[in-house]
Amino acid sequence: MKMVTNRSSSSPHFLHLRIPSLSISAYVLLLFGFSAALLYISQRQMPEADSKVVFSETPSVILRDRLWDSSSAYGYSPCVKPTRKYGAIHTSSDHYITVRSNGGLNQMRAGISDMVAVARIMNATLVIPQLDRQSFWQDSSTFGDIFDVSHFIQSLQWDVRVVQQLPTKLESAPRARKHFTSWATASYYEELAKSLWKEYQVIHVPKSDSRLANNDLPIDIQKLRCRTLYNALRFSSPIEELGKKLVERLHLRGRYIALHLRYEKDMLSFTGCAYGLNEAEINELRIMRENTNHWKLKKINSTQQRNEGSCPLTPKEVGIFLQALGYPSSVWIYIAAGEIFGGETYLGDLRFRFPNLIFKDTLATREELNNFASHATQAAALDYMISVESDVFVPSYTGNMARAVEGHRRFLGHRMTINPDRKGLVALFDKIDSGELKEGQKLRELVTQMHKFRLGTPRKRYGSLPGLKGRNRLRTEESFYENPYPECICRNKNSA
Ligand SMILES: *[C@@H]1O[C@H](CO)[C@@H](O)[C@H](O)[C@H]1NC(C)=O
Ligand SMILES: *[C@@H]1O[C@H](CO)[C@@H](O)[C@H](O)[C@H]1NC(C)=O
Repeated sequence: MKMVTNRSSSSPHFLHLRIPSLSISAYVLLLFGFSAALLYISQRQMPEADSKVVFSETPSVILRDRLWDSSSAYGYSPCVKPTRKYGAIHTSSDHYITVRSNGGLNQMRAGISDMVAVARIMNATLVIPQLDRQSFWQDSSTFGDIFDVSHFIQSLQWDVRVVQQLPTKLESAPRARKHFTSWATASYYEELAKSLWKEYQVIHVPKSDSRLANNDLPIDIQKLRCRTLYNALRFSSPIEELGKKLVERLHLRGRYIALHLRYEKDMLSFTGCAYGLNEAEINELRIMRENTNHWKLKKINSTQQRNEGSCPLTPKEVGIFLQALGYPSSVWIYIAAGEIFGGETYLGDLRFRFPNLIFKDTLATREELNNFASHATQAAALDYMISVESDVFVPSYTGNMARAVEGHRRFLGHRMTINPDRKGLVALFDKIDSGELKEGQKLRELVTQMHKFRLGTPRKRYGSLPGLKGRNRLRTEESFYENPYPECICRNKNSA
């Protein structure tokens, strides 16, 4: 991943936020963005009726003006510098934390950023984390294959001491193997530090995901999480270099949408979504689900799952969706994904609507991709970079990648991310299937209306759903890394 500072020098697209001309449409856009933010802050689930009061223009006109425009940054920019209260690190600390990071690329990146913050809170030295090799990803990549180790250590030098490995004298020292509680507070780790450091010099953390709360942490800890994720965790140079090249190649063609098309076998099997599939495929997916031990849900009602909006959109559905939003058929669409389930069978309809689909292997040469082919994590890193740098990002399903990319785009200047309202869309698609609704103007109005507050414009991070307590409350909060506003994104002083 390219960093805030590093990116700017080599990639003009990155820093130069194109300033829109002060046309009427830009003005409408600003008003729109501002009211959207206000409304969203005040109420997470906004009833249809309220929104009509604010918008006199038809939604499709508003959206048509902004099909591409997320470049104004709305007067916000990253703010990750520590506050004045932020002290020097405990260099004398002889306490160490070792970590095994679990999950796919983006789950690990978030987990590592959390562990840096935890090491800071606990006054510990962090040993470069081990990466997950056993997850579904089956990838043997080490930290150094994915990330730039010396950059990581150096850029965190004022925050946390990071070392490549445990000092030899501690290799055989007894370690406290510690499963930290989920979404823990800073005081949890402070208490833990008091008791554990009395007995141990080394704590081993076997799992790094979601160990730190999203909210109510000291501001400097939140900013440190952002500095780590967006600065310190730069990808290793082979990934970084190829990623930049691919982004450049895409920009040479024009503006592009990065589509995180999560229509992959593991996702369909895990979610039990069988809509539009044939008997043999449904069986294949069911067998995979039954044989994957860590997927707890085995019996899934596909129809119900789809009606609830819990299925990834099919390629065809994505095509209808993008067309209804007003994107012309000539648009370039980069498919950020692994292998699409069913291949051309299910891609055909999307390709018919949008012939300019671009895949990794049509963008890069075989030689360039050689080293990435057998490393899912490294290929995912390329998709990540291409998605962050795209003009528009559209995830067909929620997940760690979609959240991470959305958060990073917000951080860099609220670049447009269109979050499909899958539940609402499926209801419309079913009407199309049954002949009650036709593709055309009516559908465009409905889809645009449905998505006017799902475009990645500035707003505060959502809290939990109302009425929940304890873990369930923490679980339903919006992820810090999906929207690091307000802690790491600030309103520019001189903007209106
Ligand atoms: C970490 O070190 C600081 C500064 O020496 C101290 O104030 C703080 O209590 C320490 N925290 C823990 C959890 O040990
Ligand atoms: C699955 O859910 C749908 C919609 O809720 C329902 O109509 C159907 O009867 C369910 N099927 C089974 C086998 O339970």
